Amino acid sequence: MKPLAAGWNSGASLATPKGHCQKPSFARAGPASPTPPIADRQRVTSPDHLTARKSPALRGAVSAPGDKSMSHRAFILGAMATGVTEIEGLLEGDDVLATGRAVQAFGATVERLGEGRWRVTGRGGFETPDGVIDCGTAGTGVRLLMGAAAGYPVMATFDGDASLRKRPMGRVTDHLERMGARFDWSGASGLLPAHLTGGALSAIDHVQAVASAQVKSAILLAGLNAKGTTSVVEPERSRDHTERMLRAFGAEVAVEETGAGWTIRLAGGQALSGTAVSVPGDPSSAACPLSAGLIVPGSVVTVEGVMLNTLRTGLFETWIEMGADLTIANRRESGGEAVGDVTARHSALKGIVVPESRAASMIDEYPILAATAAFAQGTTVMRGVGEMRVKESDRIALMVAGLRACGVAVEEEPEGFLVTGGSVPGGATVHTANDHRIAMSHLVLGLAAEAAVTVDEPGMIATSFPGFVEMMRGLGAEIG
Ligand code: S3P
Repeated sequence: MKPLAAGWNSGASLATPKGHCQKPSFARAGPASPTPPIADRQRVTSPDHLTARKSPALRGAVSAPGDKSMSHRAFILGAMATGVTEIEGLLEGDDVLATGRAVQAFGATVERLGEGRWRVTGRGGFETPDGVIDCGTAGTGVRLLMGAAAGYPVMATFDGDASLRKRPMGRVTDHLERMGARFDWSGASGLLPAHLTGGALSAIDHVQAVASAQVKSAILLAGLNAKGTTSVVEPERSRDHTERMLRAFGAEVAVEETGAGWTIRLAGGQALSGTAVSVPGDPSSAACPLSAGLIVPGSVVTVEGVMLNTLRTGLFETWIEMGADLTIANRRESGGEAVGDVTARHSALKGIVVPESRAASMIDEYPILAATAAFAQGTTVMRGVGEMRVKESDRIALMVAGLRACGVAVEEEPEGFLVTGGSVPGGATVHTANDHRIAMSHLVLGLAAEAAVTVDEPGMIATSFPGFVEMMRGLGAEIG
């Protein structure tokens, strides 16, 4: 372990870190590495605005970028494990690259072998990092890293960009503190920057009021190095990539369905061993070209290699209930996950009431669902989605404002919203608050609206979907 940095011994006197944009350069994988190292792979071009215009029928087959949730986890578990983890299909979006830099700062060796191919050599634990852990805009990255790091005797400062600094961290740190970790805050309690003192944890039993995969995962990752058996009960089953990947790295994780929900149990003290991880296509990203296929007349769009883990496919079920012509071919397994090629054909859609119990399986997809619902006959009711208000932005407020600006009838509620569809006038500039999903959803909307739709601050699309614009243009979309 590296010695503790000076000035870490008093929570009260912790200074606000100066800047949070340290970018450790990643090791290159020898002369064969065909692309720039990670520190150079930030948003290369970032136009102020992007505009989507009514487009002719979209046609073609594309591959979804790697799944963001699994990519974060692959880096983190690879760093916690002993030995080599080789990852293929990793999402090289800004959020995930920030997690890669973080695990390198915690002592792992991270090398890029080629497009989407990375090698992480873990030391079976984290070291105290030299600088601030900058998680950029990534809520998943920071919360999972906090959980992972809390189990080791390290000190670390976590920070992020302006949007991440507004997001609640107490939902994770409160439980990590119950386990024995300590968090000190430079400013308001529960908001980044946060200073962790980790180690000597004890297991807890946590019952969630709202299902959150991030909270579950942070507790389980901490529980791996805690004394005793940690359990998390979730009322609805949230994405289970952490459980699946922990098993792939050699840990035992028990999942039991009870009357009150699902209980996940993990005994502390289990060692992880590096392994191969294959990351399938991200259903949240695939949703954008597929939505465009549903709403642009005459379209037939296929996205290949989409992960079909049923805890992630709530949107596809919802679309099918709305009358979407959505078909899945070539079902197979890849990297321990169900995968298939999904085709969307232009469809006459109708509004439906989305079951609230489905929220966890499509929480990131409500913005693109709302854009799709703007072209459905009748009202689509989306309730029980208050969590949308604490994502990269207040996604209920921004979708309501954006759709209204485009002439769509929308009603806002504290924990949800209703969209009444038909034809969409468009002809507006939409404020995205730097939220990638707000930007992509309105650009898709613009492809079938009467007048063009412009979004501001589209640079953040690179956090989850680098190459989005090029992929959409390749299908025939008029975005520029
Ligand atoms: C994620 C869980 C979800 C989701 C996020 C990714 C994950 O957040 O919104 O984009 O990878 O665990 P919550 O767990 O807060 O619902």
